[in-house]
Amino acid sequence: MNTIPFRIQTIEDYKNAYKASVDNPENFWDNIASNFIWKKKWSKTLEWEFISPQVKWFVGGELNITENCLDRHLEEKGNQVALIWEPNDPNEISLQYTYKELLSEVNKMANVLKGMGVQKGDRVCIYLPMIPELAFATLACARIGAIHSIVFAGFSSNAVADRINDAQCAFVLTSDGMNRGAKQIPVKSVVDEAMANCPTVQKVLVINRLNWNVHMDLHRDIWYHEAVNQVNDLCEATAMGSEDEMFILYTSGSTGKPKGVVHTCGGYMVYAGYTFANVFQYNPGDVFWCTADIGWVTGHSYILYGPLLQGATTVMFEGVPTFPDPGRFWQVIDKHSVNIFYTAPTAIRSLMASGVDHVLSYSLHSLKLLGSVGEPINEEAWHWYHTHIGKGKCPIVDTYWQTETGGVMISGMGGIHPQRPSYAGFPIPGIQLILVDADGNEIEGNGVEGNLCVKFPWPSILRTTYGDHERCRINYFATYKNLYFTGDGARREEDGMYRLLGRVDDVINVSGHRFGTAEIEDAINQCKKVIESAVVGYPHDIKGQGIYAYVILEHSENSNDQTRDEIIESVVEHIGKIAKPDKIQFVGGLPKTRSGKIMRRILRKVAEGEINSLGDTTTLLDPKVVDEIISSRL
Ligand code: WTA
Repeated sequence: MNTIPFRIQTIEDYKNAYKASVDNPENFWDNIASNFIWKKKWSKTLEWEFISPQVKWFVGGELNITENCLDRHLEEKGNQVALIWEPNDPNEISLQYTYKELLSEVNKMANVLKGMGVQKGDRVCIYLPMIPELAFATLACARIGAIHSIVFAGFSSNAVADRINDAQCAFVLTSDGMNRGAKQIPVKSVVDEAMANCPTVQKVLVINRLNWNVHMDLHRDIWYHEAVNQVNDLCEATAMGSEDEMFILYTSGSTGKPKGVVHTCGGYMVYAGYTFANVFQYNPGDVFWCTADIGWVTGHSYILYGPLLQGATTVMFEGVPTFPDPGRFWQVIDKHSVNIFYTAPTAIRSLMASGVDHVLSYSLHSLKLLGSVGEPINEEAWHWYHTHIGKGKCPIVDTYWQTETGGVMISGMGGIHPQRPSYAGFPIPGIQLILVDADGNEIEGNGVEGNLCVKFPWPSILRTTYGDHERCRINYFATYKNLYFTGDGARREEDGMYRLLGRVDDVINVSGHRFGTAEIEDAINQCKKVIESAVVGYPHDIKGQGIYAYVILEHSENSNDQTRDEIIESVVEHIGKIAKPDKIQFVGGLPKTRSGKIMRRILRKVAEGEINSLGDTTTLLDPKVVDEIISSRL
């Protein structure tokens, strides 16, 4: 049964859709957008230029994404399960919310937010673990037109404070604590610490997850379970302009602090809904599970918005893949009869390392399709995933995209295209890819490699970086004139298939999470004993890339394990545990050019162990430092 009008089912469908999307993009997206509910139809489909840049889709239209995610389904699917929540502890009961119940929860949360003073356009920072209230809160913001800025609950108080201040949030949502495998981790106290430096925050809403007796500021903090008793479950969806800001999501780039990528209401909705249906070849009734955290863009688009836009049943998991044992993912798949499973290569590699025995006790027979996201999936992991999880019968979609793109850009489309391990596949209709050389010249034909850019807007392209449009221009639109630059390198094979080759800028992808080298260096340099540092990525068996830091200390006698711990502590404090360096090498100097620029190329080669192919080092200010670095490499 296929009731989704724009669902591509064959290679011919794909070719036709792709051609239509390039021949007449406005017409193509007009047709797709017409399948959603609008409060007011748009008057112009697209206005754009990639110089400032300025992109507007469905201009003049009005909508509310939650009407499309929830209200719209009530008639046919009111009693169908929308959200399955699986707790960290397999012995705790899992919760299910039908579309009707989910709408009721979202409305209650929305009314609590309104009661706190949240209005359309206000920025709300959501710093929550993977509990149902995170889903309610995200959707509740969208319902009343507040702009959510979800911050992954593993970030440190400094990182949260930076993000709150950048977006000038007046409201924060958090919980007492969180479960993470066998551990329980404080969350509210992280927010409390951040509050010391967040003058814009007026109210903090606290969700009770662990029954902890946390500190509550009488004037600022509100318990959700108390506030929710005071409200009803009716809340009208606010009419939003297509180009009104919908959410901010912070992500790292090659320079400076993380930037707030801004997505807008109309285009994001259309693209999230379109890609969910097609990339995962979703059929009505399928149970879909994306293991990402909602704090990352993958969770925004493919735990919440994409699946709900299609009336799917989506699974949200509080726990970790290895608790209580490395069979947990597979147990959850059997428990909820998951049909489509979407995870990250780093998780696959770590489960692969724990051995296939953990898989064998589960049937996994409900699975129809597997997905991968966040980094290139290496061949070994691909085969393991295909053989042991997909039992050789499930296509794997390797989905390439970015926080900035809002939805998947390149994929195999659920087995419609031929599959080749480590290849992401073909562009989604509407995505006009182009490879360019360092000077921005197009590299035409097939069997070629270059820097991956996009030459035409798609509905969910980022619109700006919050509060600093110039930064958006410089980061994405200034490297190559008239093009959106992804920061990734790619190869286009003879048959047109794309293979991603990794970042070509100073961004490291650790377990599918992006960090700018400058951001980590900044955190390391805040350690008092450090004079200077340089950070590069190196191949890591589980994480994809590990973080290798070269550090110059104030006194060489400090080069001991205690200093190493202090450096790690500084990174944990300023960013969070997820950015901890894997290796720290103390050095006397860094390889710099005469103009003072660190030659990372050399540091990368040393970290990779490729010391025989360092290339030309004669332009360095002091080529001797390279010998010292090589002799003390880890
Ligand atoms: C990388 C995650 C290869 C890439 C959705 C990109 C990938 C960055 C893939 C975006 C993939 C993501 N194959 N590389 N399938 N998916 N990447 O913003 O370098 O957290 O630029 O978005 O991850 O990471 P982000």
